Amino acid sequence: MRLGVLVEVGLLGLAAALKEPKGHEYHWNPKNSRSPCPGLNALANHGYLPRSGLNIDLETLRNAVSAGFNFERTALDGPFNAAIEFNLSTSGNPDTFHLADLAKHDTIEFDGSLSRNDFDLGDDLHFNPAIWHTVAVSLDLYRLGPSEEDKYVTVEVAARARAARVKAAMAANKHFNASTAQMDGSPGTTGLYLTTLWDDVAGAAPKKWIRALFEEDRIPFREGYNPAIRKQKTLEDVGAMVTRVKAVDTDASKCKRRSRWGSH
Ligand code: HEM
Ligand SMILES: *[C@@H]1O[C@H](CO)[C@@H](O)[C@H](O)[C@H]1NC(C)=O
Ligand SMILES: *[C@@H]1O[C@H](CO)[C@@H](O)[C@H](O)[C@H]1NC(C)=O
Repeated sequence: MRLGVLVEVGLLGLAAALKEPKGHEYHWNPKNSRSPCPGLNALANHGYLPRSGLNIDLETLRNAVSAGFNFERTALDGPFNAAIEFNLSTSGNPDTFHLADLAKHDTIEFDGSLSRNDFDLGDDLHFNPAIWHTVAVSLDLYRLGPSEEDKYVTVEVAARARAARVKAAMAANKHFNASTAQMDGSPGTTGLYLTTLWDDVAGAAPKKWIRALFEEDRIPFREGYNPAIRKQKTLEDVGAMVTRVKAVDTDASKCKRRSRWGSH
């Protein structure tokens, strides 16, 4: 009896987790203001940020990262304040910005993004399927088996995919000009998506969740992501993840040698 009830509650919990919360269903509309950031776009596509993508202030951002991803409310004040301080806002209010304002190059936006082109090569705002495909292959996102491990991206794999993308971007863009500060942005965004999508039990990030976030600007509720039961993440968690990303030896030749000798 008791076990039956537990199983039932468990199944109900699972069904709830696979559903998008009421009022926070995913809607994608190309007319809305969107950014080069899949995290913010996803929050807007689920109505945690204004679906219009317009006039975002700090309080709205705090509520969104907390409700949508279970970040500590102030965890992402830093990038918000950076956006304000770069004076990139076109909203007419110095305390708010529109999502599309964030594409202004050489502020927060930098060269060598995982899913966007470089500013000098065209469109630094919208998702670029061809560029993302190269990264998705590096992350091995299309292979989900045969083992359980194959469903996840580790820090090591994510760090190597990031390094490979920056190398390819540098080769493709003779004006590649990410400054030192901006080069920190690249491991930073990898650390941020890993922290946001981290599965604490697996100790890695589910490939399906990564695909939903990047390919659809979608919070992967349908794939089991549930901010309500996730361990809250802090700025310190993001910092620790970025440190782990930076610590990975991304030298491709060494990496090949290791895998040839079958250590993973
Ligand atoms: C809420 C959690 C967040 C997550 C999960 C997230 C995730 C990401 C990821 C993965 C990227 C890299 C995209 C790529 O390389 O193609 C990115 C880029 C970016 N994010 Fe976020 N982000 C978050 C919050 C923020 C906040 C609060 C801001 C600032 C207000 C911001 C501004 C940006 C900008 C401007 C970029 C473009 C950088 C580039 O050129 O690649 N993000 N974000
Ligand atoms: C933004 O505007 C303020 C006030 O006008 C100015 O002091 C600051 O230097 C500007 N910041 C940038 C990055 O241009
Ligand atoms: C980078 O390139 C852009 C566009 O070509 C330019 O506006 C910007 O000033 C450059 N930044 C640096 C630090 O050279």
